[in-house]
Amino acid sequence: MGTINVKDLQGAEVKVQAVEGYSLMELLRDNGFEMAAICGGACICGTCHVYVRGENARHLPEPAYDEAELLETKPDYIEGVSRLACQINYAEELDGLTLELTEDN
Ligand code: FES
Repeated sequence: MGTINVKDLQGAEVKVQAVEGYSLMELLRDNGFEMAAICGGACICGTCHVYVRGENARHLPEPAYDEAELLETKPDYIEGVSRLACQINYAEELDGLTLELTEDN
């Protein structure tokens, strides 16, 4: 267990408890954040687009080809910061990660 910081579109930041094995999309959705996640985590819709920030972001695996391809179609894509929350499972080394919600959610 650990925590992730979530910054909403208004800039408010809250900490939520994170559990290993759950995707970041599931953690956001289950903690009441607006997260359309229309495809349910199949890497098709892009409605779980978030920005990842913080020192622990260096522990994130590189996006797979299909994630990278989808991210690059987003008008608000930021290289090295944009990720699909459904494609990242929370793990202990991500404790303290900051996720910033985007207009895509
Ligand atoms: S939930 Fe559809 S791409 Fe992440």
